[in-house]
Amino acid sequence: MAVIGVGRFIQQRQDFEDQIARSYQVEMAARVQIAEGEDSAATRAVVSDQVERREQLQDDISSGTRDTAILVAAGLIAGLTGALLLFSGLIASLRRPLEDLVDASARLAGGDLSTRVEVGGLSETAALGRAFNEMADQLEKDAAEREQLDRLKDEFVLTASHELRSPLTSVQGFAELLMLEKERLGPKQVETVEIILDNCRHLGRLLNDLLDLARSDAGRLALRREPTELAPLIDDVVRTMRAQTDAANQALTEQIEPNLPPVYVEPGRIRQILVNLITNAHEYSPERASVQVSARVVGTDVEISVSDDGPGIPEPQLEHIFDRFVRGDAGLTQRVGGTGLGLAISKSLVELHGGTIRAESAVGVGSTFSIRLPVSPSEAAVAPSPATAEPS
Ligand SMILES: Nc1ncnc2c1ncn2[C@@H]1O[C@H](COP(=O)(O)OP(=O)(O)OP(=O)(O)O)[C@@H](O)[C@H]1O
Ligand SMILES: [Mg+2]
Repeated sequence: MAVIGVGRFIQQRQDFEDQIARSYQVEMAARVQIAEGEDSAATRAVVSDQVERREQLQDDISSGTRDTAILVAAGLIAGLTGALLLFSGLIASLRRPLEDLVDASARLAGGDLSTRVEVGGLSETAALGRAFNEMADQLEKDAAEREQLDRLKDEFVLTASHELRSPLTSVQGFAELLMLEKERLGPKQVETVEIILDNCRHLGRLLNDLLDLARSDAGRLALRREPTELAPLIDDVVRTMRAQTDAANQALTEQIEPNLPPVYVEPGRIRQILVNLITNAHEYSPERASVQVSARVVGTDVEISVSDDGPGIPEPQLEHIFDRFVRGDAGLTQRVGGTGLGLAISKSLVELHGGTIRAESAVGVGSTFSIRLPVSPSEAAVAPSPATAEPS
């Protein structure tokens, strides 16, 4: 439309120039006649006609130019609107697949490996969509393989630990029998049997820990929960551990809030966690250190803490302290033989009970390990069930 308008404008201008030129020619011819003495009324009329004609032509061209300008402007506006609509359509067709890709990436990053996008749009966006889907296929395949390997590993650890326990139990049994006949053995033999017994106990603990972790990973750790009073349980663990802390001249104290509500847990597992935490506090702290076990209600949980004023754990190690086979280098760690599984198992057991565990520590000040177990009155009132398997 704008092009037609511009064409028309040029044509109008040309016609106008031609007509004006012709008018001047006619007028000039008349004026020449007048100058040569043919001054008739008709000749003068020609001159004044031409003057009038040019004025008329001037008016015509002005209104014609205005119309053409309106036409050109309308054409330009229509063209611009069309271009704008085309452009926003193009942007929308580009944006939609990109937004889908961004959404899908977020879902994939969130762990939904079945996420795929619809391949479409411009060729570049379609290529991007195809690449995304191929990547998601690969991730899903890798995850399935990893899961399969994890299952095989769990099975292997479960079977190996289980199979190793039987011969170990019999070696330990024979060594204990020998110790009963202690007086018939020479001092060297007694020392040897004691070393065998020590190693059997250590290996037995390690196998039990490995079994617990493998069962927990495989979702096969059965909890025998029952409504449990924590105060007598903590008392009992502290009494058992006192022989070891006394031997190191360490002060083992407890501070239990009165009237703690019962928690619905497997008492043996809570005992195992507390023994792990108190053993750590005792083993990694020097002689004459203080170890305190406390229990209190925090909101809807019961919190049990084991604090010591031992060496503390440096910040970088603290982050990984609950990982398997992680051993720090603070305090007496190198002197104490351990496998780095105690805290990993404690964490796994606390989580199986629906609780949480955390560690706070400052080098040179000490460490506090706290577990929180939910108090659920309705559950605590439930009669003990024979065995409940919980997800790991
Ligand atoms: N109370 C503590 N004070 C200082 N360091 C600690 C304390 N508790 C744990 N640690 C550090 O954390 C590491 C991991 O503890 P964890 O109980 O998991 O394994 P471990 O004691 O080494 O071996 P085990 O499997 O026999 O328990 C320890 O090696 C020690 O360096
Ligand atoms: Mg330990």
